[in-house]
Amino acid sequence: MKSLHRKELLTVKWRRNAVQIIDQTKLPNRLVYLTCKDHHDIAKAIRSLVVRGAPAIGICAALALLLVTINSKAKTEKGLKSELERASRLLISTRPTAVNISWAVKRILQISSKGESVKEIKRLVKEEALTMLDDDILTNRKMGRAGSDLIYDGDVVMTHCNAGSLATATYGTALGVLRAAREDGKNLKVIATETRPVMQGSRLTAFELMHDDFDVRLISDTSVGYVMANRMVDKVIVGADRILRTGHVYNKIGTYQIAIMAYTHKIPFYVAAPISTFDLKSSISDIKIEDRSPDEITKIKNIFIAPKGIHTINPAFDITPPNLITGIVTEVGLLEPPFHRSIGTIINRSKRY
Ligand code: MRU
Repeated sequence: MKSLHRKELLTVKWRRNAVQIIDQTKLPNRLVYLTCKDHHDIAKAIRSLVVRGAPAIGICAALALLLVTINSKAKTEKGLKSELERASRLLISTRPTAVNISWAVKRILQISSKGESVKEIKRLVKEEALTMLDDDILTNRKMGRAGSDLIYDGDVVMTHCNAGSLATATYGTALGVLRAAREDGKNLKVIATETRPVMQGSRLTAFELMHDDFDVRLISDTSVGYVMANRMVDKVIVGADRILRTGHVYNKIGTYQIAIMAYTHKIPFYVAAPISTFDLKSSISDIKIEDRSPDEITKIKNIFIAPKGIHTINPAFDITPPNLITGIVTEVGLLEPPFHRSIGTIINRSKRY
């Protein structure tokens, strides 16, 4: 097992009744934490991408509700529950595509509904939110174990966006699988796409993998076809923001075209995501794809790189259909096609959903 030469990146921490989050807008140049003392601070951090990545924003939403209970002056359980509901609506509105915020909020509201006094609600919410934080790390490690066998010694693995420590409490989903494979003694190389327009690949994945001493190469998004056509990549692994019962995967914009390219070149395309990312109830028409500011594609550091006033189309996520996906790694095992069958079976078996 290769030891890491630096400390693990802990993206979300609970310290002295506050949430500390690595400020990802400052990476790769500065590794600093932002302290959030109430749920408004957390909503702002999620909206402005200080913290991003589906599992990380889910955990932050749970901790935001814990802060609501800590800061609340409510004298009655009804008062506290309505504060929690109001804060939940605010948190869900921050980023609509990833299912993890609604999942986390639902879990906290469910547990709070069991409390019969203000004191009991506060205790239950605290236990649940802190368990969710710890569970995220355990889940990622289990997912890593479940996916490690997919990676062979000497593989070159492409990833898109950031599905690593920085997208979770720590360890990561897709990058967790690579960490586990390396812990199993396999040598591997990683190709990270830059992931325009917000550059999660170059700013975050490249940073995190170099921080942990991986052999990583950065490519422009437009080089994916070249790299695949020249047999420079053995497999692709990405994370997910939401996975439907049908196996349709919502993930960072650009994932779909990488999946098509991988399919064309017969390169296995894997997705790694926890059970909390599955949404068995919705269909494609129910899900809003976040439409982000034109500034992300018309400006770099406030300098125009496109004509002022140009109309833009800037979706944050796309949908990869199940026929392009080789397998989905979860903490309870690998799901294989046909996904409409394997997803139903495994989720029904999992107690956590
Ligand atoms: O807009 P972002 O940076 O929040 O998008 C993140 C992604 O698309 C990740 O790939 C996804 O959340 C999986 S994270 C384990």
